[in-house]
Amino acid sequence: MAKVTIDGITIEVPDGTTILQAARMIGGDIVPPTMCYHSKLKTSGGYCRTCIVKVSKGSEKDPRPMPKPVASCRTTVMDGMEVQNLTSPDLLEARAGVVEFLLINHPLDCPVCDQAGECDLQNLAYENGKAGTRYEFPRREFERIDIGDKIQLHMNRCILCYRCVKTADQVTDGRVHGVINRGDVAEISTYIQNAVDNDFSGNVIDVCPVGALTDKTFRFKSRVWYTKPMDAHRNCTKCSGKVRLWYKGEEVLRVTGRRDQFGEVTEWICNECRFDKKKSSDWTIEGPAHIDSGSVISANHYESLKALKTDIERQRMALPHGQKVTLGHGALDPNNQ
Ligand code: SF4
Ligand code: SF4
Ligand code: FES
Repeated sequence: MAKVTIDGITIEVPDGTTILQAARMIGGDIVPPTMCYHSKLKTSGGYCRTCIVKVSKGSEKDPRPMPKPVASCRTTVMDGMEVQNLTSPDLLEARAGVVEFLLINHPLDCPVCDQAGECDLQNLAYENGKAGTRYEFPRREFERIDIGDKIQLHMNRCILCYRCVKTADQVTDGRVHGVINRGDVAEISTYIQNAVDNDFSGNVIDVCPVGALTDKTFRFKSRVWYTKPMDAHRNCTKCSGKVRLWYKGEEVLRVTGRRDQFGEVTEWICNECRFDKKKSSDWTIEGPAHIDSGSVISANHYESLKALKTDIERQRMALPHGQKVTLGHGALDPNNQ
């Protein structure tokens, strides 16, 4: 076991734990942001540098600080290590620099991007980005590519996190896409624009932290914050059948895998569940999906509907006959939730 202190909070973790995993065990705001690491994918992490932290004390045996920020997703803890994330202004400045680099070629066309509202880069830029850009050169631009009939690649938005490549490698059989070229001409490519066509290919959409890989059956149908996510399952012979349905009114606009509190997919789902089962009758509905309260998707408060209705009912019973209950949040109408 090793004792590590992150932003003043000490935790004991098994040997071999990374700083990021230790921070996630502590939880809360001190957890560094991640764009390329994904706990369900082997060898992910180490590409984007958003998870960098400052190691102010290497270990009990060798207390020297590390000379520069390290990627927390790839650095294992040592006994007695002391780490700074939010408590180091230098580190936050360094992370702002990383974000600036990530955005150098990024179009930031959030108003027309399907990922808006659930985009890790949007959140990262909001929390760590700078208001303006210092970049004066033309941004690199690519044509959109249809990868099969269900997925579209918009390379302008890709941050080369490699998550989709690792997903195709580890979750599907027969990867037909990857990163070609190096440096600022590197790009995701299917080489000869092969269709990514196998039962689990749709998972690349869920792991993409930005709007580079999007679901063509959902494109431009709705902003995510107007939809209501519900957890549901069905008996599926190919995958666990545990999904998230995104409703607008009675209509299921899209089906995705479920995500944990770190935005990572909990179980891979097959393309049949994702693309072919879009009727409520295909599913057993479990109830509203839990959405992190920091997310714009939670704005409709539907999860607390039951408590809200009970509260209104209690207030209604307590009022003199004929008098109506006024809702605290003007926009909250329980009949519309
Ligand atoms: S990928 Fe994210 S940051 Fe980029 S345009 Fe889309 S929503 Fe905005
Ligand atoms: S397409 Fe998405 S998942 Fe794939 S490398 Fe680019 S940003 Fe990452
Ligand atoms: S999340 Fe650690 S380098 Fe990308």
